[in-house]
Amino acid sequence: MKSTLNINIVSEPSIKQNFLEEPNSLYSPRYNLFNQNVITNTHTQFESITTNSKIANGDCEELMSSIESGSVDLILTDPPFNLGSFMHKRGTNLVKMRENQFAYAGWDDLEYEEWLMKMSAFFKESNRILRKKGSLLLFMSLMKIESIINLAEENNFYYKTVGVWHKTNPMPRNMNLHFVNSTEAWVYFINEGTTGTFNNENKVLHDFVESSLTTQSEKKFGKHPTQKPIDVLNHFTNVLSNEGDVVCDPFMGSGSTGVSCEMNNRQFIGIELNEEYYNISKNRIQDIAIK
Ligand SMILES: C[S@@+](CC[C@H](N)C(=O)[O-])C[C@H]1O[C@@H](n2cnc3c(N)ncnc32)[C@H](O)[C@@H]1O
Repeated sequence: MKSTLNINIVSEPSIKQNFLEEPNSLYSPRYNLFNQNVITNTHTQFESITTNSKIANGDCEELMSSIESGSVDLILTDPPFNLGSFMHKRGTNLVKMRENQFAYAGWDDLEYEEWLMKMSAFFKESNRILRKKGSLLLFMSLMKIESIINLAEENNFYYKTVGVWHKTNPMPRNMNLHFVNSTEAWVYFINEGTTGTFNNENKVLHDFVESSLTTQSEKKFGKHPTQKPIDVLNHFTNVLSNEGDVVCDPFMGSGSTGVSCEMNNRQFIGIELNEEYYNISKNRIQDIAIK
């Protein structure tokens, strides 16, 4: 059942407050997006789109700098995989593979070195905005895992797990020529610590998740080429954070992490570069918040 977090907008930003001291509050977040100065730059483009979500249209490298240090409990995100230029340059005659979603989406066409620099800046800011022992889980192509783990470790993250998302109904492209691509990796880290929030409810959680591709009903506000299914995000939101926590997705795409946060009573900070995807996010998050 969905309920609303007990948070209000106040004109004067106060300092960090511990909600555990408030016996009547429904949840006890350490930080409150609206009562506190979590977004520190007053000129920032962050928009309050629901009582639990603030999102901005722009470059995350710049916009993450407006987020208060240590104020985020979980970063759950899906950055560019750096497959675009790789696929462009491939000497393959598999037209559908060359003209893939990454190469032509326009947001994944950096050269490898440039991508590394961008991801390094992302980890540096993530290390700053996450609290100690906060978690970071990102989706990634299997080919780039080692680079990602190296960058994360350089920025004080402790590597925990590489897992796989298995898509049960992938597009059977060129199925008679090769193994059909049906997996994406995810990598899980802890910021400045070795263990963090892990709500496994005493169950054994395997290092893979399985689901069908994102359904059309989740795309009613517009299409994003790599939109993640809500079920997959709900799994990570629930295991890696608690109700009332602040969750950030700096590459939010069509806002799937934000939708999951609204469904599960988390506070959400989202950033997206592309205006069309930003608007899809806004519509999806607002739509789920009023249900
Ligand atoms: C893999 S997609 C995320 C898809 C998302 N998980 C969803 O379910 O819709 C990555 C997104 O990051 C955005 N992006 C790329 N570079 C960015 C940057 N520097 N700052 C913010 N967003 C960026 C892209 O426009 C793209 O929508």
